[in-house]
Amino acid sequence: MKIGSVKTDNFTVLAPLAGITNLPLRLLAKKAGCGLVCSEMISANGLVYGSDKTVQLLASAPEEKPLSVQLFGSNPPIMAEAARIVQDSGADVVDINFGCSVKKILKSNSGSALMKDPPLACRILDSVRKAISIPLTIKIRSGWEPSGKQAIEIARLAEGCGVDAIAVHPRTATQGFRGEANWSIISSVKRALTIPVIGNGDVTAPADALRMLAETGCDGVMVGRAAIGNPMIFAGMLAAANGRPPALPNDSQRILMMTAYLQDSVRYLGEKVACRMMRSRLCWFVKGMRNAGQFRNAVRYIASEKEATDLIRQYAESISAWSEN
Ligand SMILES: Cc1cc2nc3c(=O)[nH]c(=O)nc-3n(C[C@H](O)[C@H](O)[C@H](O)COP(=O)(O)O)c2cc1C
Repeated sequence: MKIGSVKTDNFTVLAPLAGITNLPLRLLAKKAGCGLVCSEMISANGLVYGSDKTVQLLASAPEEKPLSVQLFGSNPPIMAEAARIVQDSGADVVDINFGCSVKKILKSNSGSALMKDPPLACRILDSVRKAISIPLTIKIRSGWEPSGKQAIEIARLAEGCGVDAIAVHPRTATQGFRGEANWSIISSVKRALTIPVIGNGDVTAPADALRMLAETGCDGVMVGRAAIGNPMIFAGMLAAANGRPPALPNDSQRILMMTAYLQDSVRYLGEKVACRMMRSRLCWFVKGMRNAGQFRNAVRYIASEKEATDLIRQYAESISAWSEN
């Protein structure tokens, strides 16, 4: 897929997920072949006013490139300055959040609020476009009512402002994550534009991704929730697209993923933060595996990298002993 000057290796995209798509998780997706990884949404205000916590979210590594960094905000000069900071940090794409419908975000006129304020959307996109030379994308929802009219309106406006690609999560702002994503809105946006359109919503298995490509004509497929405990879904999507059977990750691949995730988290976030994260996050990877309950209980108290490594090793031994019996 080509997004302005950035050419990705394939059609797969890791969705921005607040609190989840940090550098260690993006590296896992990348190892599984993901074509484009996205940061979680980052506050433009926080970046411009130099909040340490916010600036840390820009941490990146060469192996994950190309990287798209998502900003949220509503003040055009601040969005422009934040986009400049993102570009200077070495990111490859700046994405703007037009989809978040969490109360706090809407109150500040950001996220989905921008979908009902085309003049403000236009001022933001114009300012950001002028501020950066790297590709600019936006991620939208259907809008505020189910027809998807606002999605087409905002998508056309964005294309006119020089946006290089648009990701569409076709649920309304009021819908949250309820109901089904209406993929026909992805088709409508695709038909209305010449720039690439990335479809998103309810892809839970490789076959869904192929169906989304075929049904909507979209150029890329973005996966969020299904990639959380299973970044290998990207390898499956690529296998399926090449006519190979999309194998599910086996037990040893899951153990390898957990180990890599732990090591990258310690390396990039420090042992203390990484261990706190591992207490809940290692559980994602063992869903449906044998003895998972016991493992989940044990990881709740992880306090050091060594302890986490030992627990993963012991768990691997327990499931392989089980298969040998
Ligand atoms: C925990 C969580 C955090 C999310 N954070 C963001 C975010 O930071 N920015 C964004 O544009 N969308 C965010 N989303 C929406 C996802 O990117 C995606 O559009 C949505 O989950 C639908 O895709 P899926 O069915 O593949 O999960 C988030 C969703 C979830 C579940």
